[in-house]
Amino acid sequence: MQSLLRSALDLPGQAAVAAAAAAAPSVFNTQPWSLAVGPGGLDVYADPGRASLPTASAERDVRLSCGAAVLNARAALARLGHGARVSVLPDPGDPLLVARIAVTDEVPDQVLGRLCGWVHLRRTNRYPFAPEPLPTDVVALLHDAARQEGASLRLLDREPEYQRVLSLIRRATCDEEAAVREDRAARLAPGSAPSVIPVGSLGPVPRRGGHDYPPVRDMAEGTGLPGRTHADFEPHPDLAVLETPGDDPASWVAAGQALQRLLLTAAEHAVAASFANQPLEDAGLRDDVSASAAHYGHPQMVLRVGYPLTQPPPTPRRPLGEALRRAEG
Ligand SMILES: Cc1cc2nc3c(=O)[nH]c(=O)nc-3n(C[C@H](O)[C@H](O)[C@H](O)COP(=O)(O)O)c2cc1C
Repeated sequence: MQSLLRSALDLPGQAAVAAAAAAAPSVFNTQPWSLAVGPGGLDVYADPGRASLPTASAERDVRLSCGAAVLNARAALARLGHGARVSVLPDPGDPLLVARIAVTDEVPDQVLGRLCGWVHLRRTNRYPFAPEPLPTDVVALLHDAARQEGASLRLLDREPEYQRVLSLIRRATCDEEAAVREDRAARLAPGSAPSVIPVGSLGPVPRRGGHDYPPVRDMAEGTGLPGRTHADFEPHPDLAVLETPGDDPASWVAAGQALQRLLLTAAEHAVAASFANQPLEDAGLRDDVSASAAHYGHPQMVLRVGYPLTQPPPTPRRPLGEALRRAEG
């Protein structure tokens, strides 16, 4: 009985854990989850209806986003001094139940507890970064963060492979289907309800060198969104691919947890990230992203990492109450 009491989450603790989960990054800021929090922990459900994206990657991106929410909840529990046991896809009869995070009396993960301090400060940064590459010791920390969650980070540090992936990013950008572009334009349109990514969080329009697309994703590319400035970006950003050994829903949830541990670790070391997932959203191009490195695994995210020059404004989340599903016993 005593151990049960010690491991129960009080109401402020429940609110903190749910708020941390809801602060996770998500595909197009769709926040495609619903959360059931109680004294025993948190259940994270996928809510695909919130992310009815026309891309081939929609189902995977929903699980990735939920995985990031799971990592944040684990971090919040650790910060509160609790251990956590995570069961991924625990109910074969309910595939939308992505993870059950149970509070335990085990020793909390000290590193995650520390990283929790960055949960509400981390932002996707689509502004120019400093031109210098990241130092190798910092890159090693990002590798470690991914590895601890069963994924691997493949830094594109050889020029031929860098250029090969870059050409896939550019091809996916050029070949984007009209329906996908129209969907992006509708989501980003001023006054769209809900406005998913405000103009300030999109960053400036990257200036093009010649006919080439810059190696930075402009989420509003081709949408004619008004009110944006233009900027030169670093010409050769550090690019990396987050990969997993498997490619099923459980692997996508693991990839989301790896992504978020990596992003919080990056934030702790003043490193920012944005993403260039265009080739992963295209079923015809995705396999090529890791084709020259089959031993690594399946590509889940393409990241641009570096030292930021500008801190973007936060991208708002829906009110927490709207993300809560029901109180658990
Ligand atoms: C699975 C997934 C895919 C994403 N893809 C991209 C992308 O291709 N380009 C990009 O700029 N941001 C991408 N994002 C970042 C989201 O747009 C971002 O997390 C969301 O707008 C919330 O903003 P925040 O991360 O600053 O809190 C992705 C996030 C997730 C979880």
